[in-house]
Amino acid sequence: MESHLGRVLGDEALPLAERAKVFLDTTTDLVKEVFEDRLPVIKNGHFARIRNVVEQSIRFFTKEKALAAMAPFISHDYKSYTHSVHVFVYSVAVLHSFGVEGEDLLQAGMGAMLHDLGKTRVPKDILAKRGALSRAEQEIMKNHPLWGVSQCASLPMSQLALNCVLFHHERMDGEGYPSRLAGEHIPFPVRVLAVCDAYDNLTAERPGQAALSPFDALQSMRSEKGAYDVEAFKRLVQVLSGAALI
Ligand SMILES: [Fe+2]
Repeated sequence: MESHLGRVLGDEALPLAERAKVFLDTTTDLVKEVFEDRLPVIKNGHFARIRNVVEQSIRFFTKEKALAAMAPFISHDYKSYTHSVHVFVYSVAVLHSFGVEGEDLLQAGMGAMLHDLGKTRVPKDILAKRGALSRAEQEIMKNHPLWGVSQCASLPMSQLALNCVLFHHERMDGEGYPSRLAGEHIPFPVRVLAVCDAYDNLTAERPGQAALSPFDALQSMRSEKGAYDVEAFKRLVQVLSGAALI
């Protein structure tokens, strides 16, 4: 399925409804996995509302243009797609715990799902490289937020959603890219996304590097001074522990 999914979604000979169903089923399974294995099992209103937003957002991606944007992304690098689904669920959960609702939450969710879309243009050997990237490879990699935004141009996304794609590698201390925005200049939903993105990267297996446990991943993030919004980080810890869901 991993190697065929992108090809199936991009095959215009297949009816849109069929392709949309394949996308819906696969993504719903991945989302279920996050809820069951990575987030605390608490059945309450908060949880049900997150699930609702997640389902609505996934439906957005079953529309023709969104599906056309996702297909090459999925076939280029399946791991980037599963990562995006994880980051999407974490971001929606954390933002919702901060009181973000409705259209804003939906748009932030879409931004989270599409944040790495620009990696479609990063060569596969760079994405899969074991160990550190060379300077030239890093420069190519650093283009992916900008490439991502241009790939989103035909989608009905708000400025907030586009900001998620463009600024998810900015750091609180202004040492990120592409714009070296710092602190409050980085929109809050993007700061939440950045925290969720880092957490999922650290807890996933990467080329040449084993996955960290949730505890070790959070410790590593805490020791990285100046990178993350402290409130967003604390809230992610609470959401992962179930404290923010009660
Ligand atoms: Fe990224």
